[in-house]
Amino acid sequence: MRLSRRSTWICAVTVTRIVLSSGVQLGCLIVPTMLSLYGASGFVGKQTAQYFAKHASLQLVRWAIAGRNRQKLEAVRDKIGAAVDVLVADSQDQQAIDAIVSQTRVLLTTAGPFALYGNTLVDACVRFQTHYVGITGETPWVRALIDRYHAQAAADGTRIIPCCSFNSVPSDLGTYLVVRYLQRELGVPCQRVNAYFQAVGGFNSGTLASAFNLYDSPEAAQMNHPFLLNPSTPHPQAEDGRKRDPQTPSFDADLNTWVAPFFMGVVNTRIVRRSAALYEEWQQPYGPSFTYHRSSPRF
Ligand SMILES: NC(=O)c1ccc[n+]([C@@H]2O[C@H](COP(=O)([O-])OP(=O)(O)OC[C@H]3O[C@@H](n4cnc5c(N)ncnc54)[C@H](OP(=O)(O)O)[C@@H]3O)[C@@H](O)[C@H]2O)c1
Repeated sequence: MRLSRRSTWICAVTVTRIVLSSGVQLGCLIVPTMLSLYGASGFVGKQTAQYFAKHASLQLVRWAIAGRNRQKLEAVRDKIGAAVDVLVADSQDQQAIDAIVSQTRVLLTTAGPFALYGNTLVDACVRFQTHYVGITGETPWVRALIDRYHAQAAADGTRIIPCCSFNSVPSDLGTYLVVRYLQRELGVPCQRVNAYFQAVGGFNSGTLASAFNLYDSPEAAQMNHPFLLNPSTPHPQAEDGRKRDPQTPSFDADLNTWVAPFFMGVVNTRIVRRSAALYEEWQQPYGPSFTYHRSSPRF
């Protein structure tokens, strides 16, 4: 009996510590969450830091900017006008990265090419059970992460989200929401989602560096595999053919216009297929023979 009361007490302390470190409101006490924004000196990093400075209350979220160059990071901090910590670690220095990740609940990173600067971060996040969010489109690198870390991260409940950016979120989340709407509100399974994208603007040097690094790597050919990111279930060749990337413009009868292959399709189709396959594994399928298509319409 004494033993049982004692173990209940130990349990309660553990639970309280988890609640404290996750930034939940306890009565009138608000406890901050620790979030680090790595790569904050880059093109996307600066904009993310600016967004945080505008929208994340320092009373609710204790956040820091991080990267390899203190001087640049301090300049970013001065520019955004937020009293945040500056954490310094080169991505090739595992010990220094560990020091940042071990004091962080959620690590957001915009430092790329990710195949060059992301490995130490994900490795540390899995070991310290720190949630990871990145913005890569380098699918062969993501495949390697899945093979190396998925089982451990899933067992520990650590969220590793490598592709949280324009070329994946609208497709993946958009498809999920359409599919669930059809199922829940209309009571029908979803067989096919067509997504249409139009993009304006250009590429920054970081994106170009990532593309060059990827196309120069021995893994570049993997990008063409339609099921590159799927869990390792075999796919019949017929299905492979049905999901091959379109190479030429075609007439879209639904829109009554010509559409061209969308240049980011080679990334976002793989991500949507992975989500669909995982939901199927979890007995919550999108629909029988579900397919996802994306293109750029000429309006
Ligand atoms: N998926 C999408 O929709 C999407 C959209 C935009 C960008 N991206 C990706 O995001 C990444 C960043 O793009 P960007 O335009 O912001 O690039 P960028 O301006 O060149 O910034 C790169 C960042 O990486 C840091 N870095 C370089 N070497 C490092 C090292 N050894 N250790 C630690 N940090 C290092 C740089 O730090 P310093 O300032 O100290 O050099 C800088 O903060 C690219 O991979 C790009 O492809 C994806």
